[in-house]
Order: sequence, then C-alpha cells, then structure tokens
Amino acid sequence: MPHPPIYEEMKSKLEGMLPEFELNYKAELADEILRLKEEKNAVILAHNYMEPALYYSVPDFRGDSLELSRKAVETDKDIIVFCGVRFMAETAKILNPHKTVLLPAKKAGCSLAASITAEDVQALKRQFPGVPVVTYVNTYANVKAETDICCTSSNAAAVVESLHTDTVIFLPDEYLAKNTAIETGKHIIFPTKQPKPHDGTLDYQLIGWHGRCEVHEKFTVEDIENARKQFPDVLVLAHPECPPDVVAAADYSGSTTAMVEYVKASKAKRYLILTECSMGDNIVAENPDKEMLRICSIRCPHMNEITLEETRDALLKTQYVIDVPEDIRIRAYTAVKRMIEIGGGKI
Ligand code: 13P
Ligand code: SF4
Repeated sequence: MPHPPIYEEMKSKLEGMLPEFELNYKAELADEILRLKEEKNAVILAHNYMEPALYYSVPDFRGDSLELSRKAVETDKDIIVFCGVRFMAETAKILNPHKTVLLPAKKAGCSLAASITAEDVQALKRQFPGVPVVTYVNTYANVKAETDICCTSSNAAAVVESLHTDTVIFLPDEYLAKNTAIETGKHIIFPTKQPKPHDGTLDYQLIGWHGRCEVHEKFTVEDIENARKQFPDVLVLAHPECPPDVVAAADYSGSTTAMVEYVKASKAKRYLILTECSMGDNIVAENPDKEMLRICSIRCPHMNEITLEETRDALLKTQYVIDVPEDIRIRAYTAVKRMIEIGGGKI
C-alpha cells in the first residue's frame, strides 16, 4: 500500500524513535485525521507535551499555554480540537463562545486545576478584601471567573508587576508562586499554613495556595547534582512549576516553549530538561545533534490521555464538547483577556 505523504514527514522527525510498524500505523491515523480536519473545517492546537507522533503530524499550531490561547483567539475555523488538557480547552471556549471546542479525552484533568475551587477563592477574597487575584491558567473556568487576571508560566512575573499593587493573591501553584515571589522580590505567605498576622502588619506581598503539579514536584536538586557529576558540561532547564531549589540549581527556567527555543538557540551538546518527558522526545526529534539526558520517567497522566486515536474519534464523533456556562464564561473572559493583552497580545 502506498504511504500517505504524511508518512515521509513523520519519518523525517521520528525515524529511530519509533519502530517501523508503529510509524506506519500512526501515519495512517494521522492521514485520516488530516482528511477529517479539512472536511469539518477544524483547527488542531497541540500543547508541547503531546507525544511525538501526534506532535509532528496533525497540529496546525503547537506551543505553550499562552501561545495556544493566542492561536485560539485568531482562528476562523468552526471547530477547535484541543490536544492538551481540559483547562486549556476551556480557555479556548472562554475565548470562542460561538465555536465548537473539542477535547479528545473525557477527563484529561490537571492536579493544579483540581487543587482549588471557586469557593476557596471566594474565602480568600473575604480574608484579604480588596487584594487583586491572579490565577494560573491551570484552573477551571469557575475559578478563573473569581479572578482579576490570569497568568501562564511565561508571563507570571509580568502579570504580577502589571497590577502595581503591594499585595497580590497568587493561585494555585505553590511553587510557581514561590518562584514568582523570588523573581519579583516579594515575600510570600500561605494563609492555609500560616494565619494572617494578628497585629495587622503586612509582612507579605504574595498570598499563595498549596496546589502542586504532580509531575514537576517530583524533580529534586539531587537529580541535578547527579547529572552534573556524570556530565559536567550538561545544561539544566527547569519548568517554573518545579520547586524553587530545583529552579535555583538549574541554568535556565522558562515556559515549555521558552525551553524548546532555548535548546534550539544554544550551542551546548547536552541537556537535562526537568519537565514532562514527551517534551524531551519532541526536542530530540528536532535537534538530532543534541543529547537529552534521560531521568525522565514522569509523563503527565492527563496529557497522556490524548492520543492520535482519540483525536480521530473527536473529529469523527464530535466529542468531547467543552461547555462553559455563559455567566461564568463572561467573568472568566475578562481575566483571560487581560492576560492576553499583557505583552501586546490582541483580542
Ligand atoms: P506551559 O504554559 O509552560 O506550556 O505549561 C503548561 C503546563 O501545564 C506545564 O505543566
Ligand atoms: Fe497539570 Fe502538571 Fe500535567 Fe501540566 S504537567 S497538565 S501542570 S498535572
């Protein structure tokens, strides 16, 4: 049987990474998805954590959370298929109420998004009246609706600084909050762990929460030390959802796309990338002359739910449709729009 053209494209990136029979099978699936995408007038957005065969075949755009939110605003297609997790697809729906947004998995959650509810945010606002609330986009729409402005890993410090206030509530990632506090020179407290000072003195400027990414919280300084012992020339990159001591011991910290670009631009030969492990594979596929050290056994189980099979079924069966109640969407939209406009984005 003649191979579809997508086979050659995938082979150029993935040869050596996938056995031939798998490459063939996945190329046929990708070919079917590309035909369905055209037929249904759909766009496919894929997060940097998608597995290599999906990442290098069907998406129209690949990127980090902020870039994909921007692409969701720009599209004129009828259907957005979001190859990422639920909070990302929800953000696309918040920005596109009249389009059909599909998530190719029933759940595809996120430990950070699950760590906080709208009621938790309301309680914090009562405890700290008048203090603006920044939430990471890794939250569900009803939490965003309680928020003044959202942020992603690529603009957290800029968003906090844009508020020009002494005090900010920053939710829900404990580590991103601590890393942002260090970057902006602010002192952070966690009111669920330390109560507000009785004498009313404001000895803090960032008020955090105790959410954590179940992938990034597992990386340790020891991982970095071991890699450096064996390979003294290694460059270490850590996502800002990693603990602050890990970020401090790394050579660079940035969003998923910032790390992809960093490796592309750098002349170093060897890297240790402390983030979801499929992203390491995706970087290797585009930088065959560079070596990625493997300590990575940590796949995000939620991102892992999105496969080529599920993406095909999403288009075939128009599933799983993302809905956000209109009263929540309108309030969440303001927070997401404000975020996109920081740094010159248009909406
Ligand atoms: P980025 O915005 O850096 O892509 O991060 C999203 C995410 O969920 C990281 O775990
Ligand atoms: Fe959520 Fe962590 Fe998975 Fe990103 S890697 S989607 S933050 S659980």
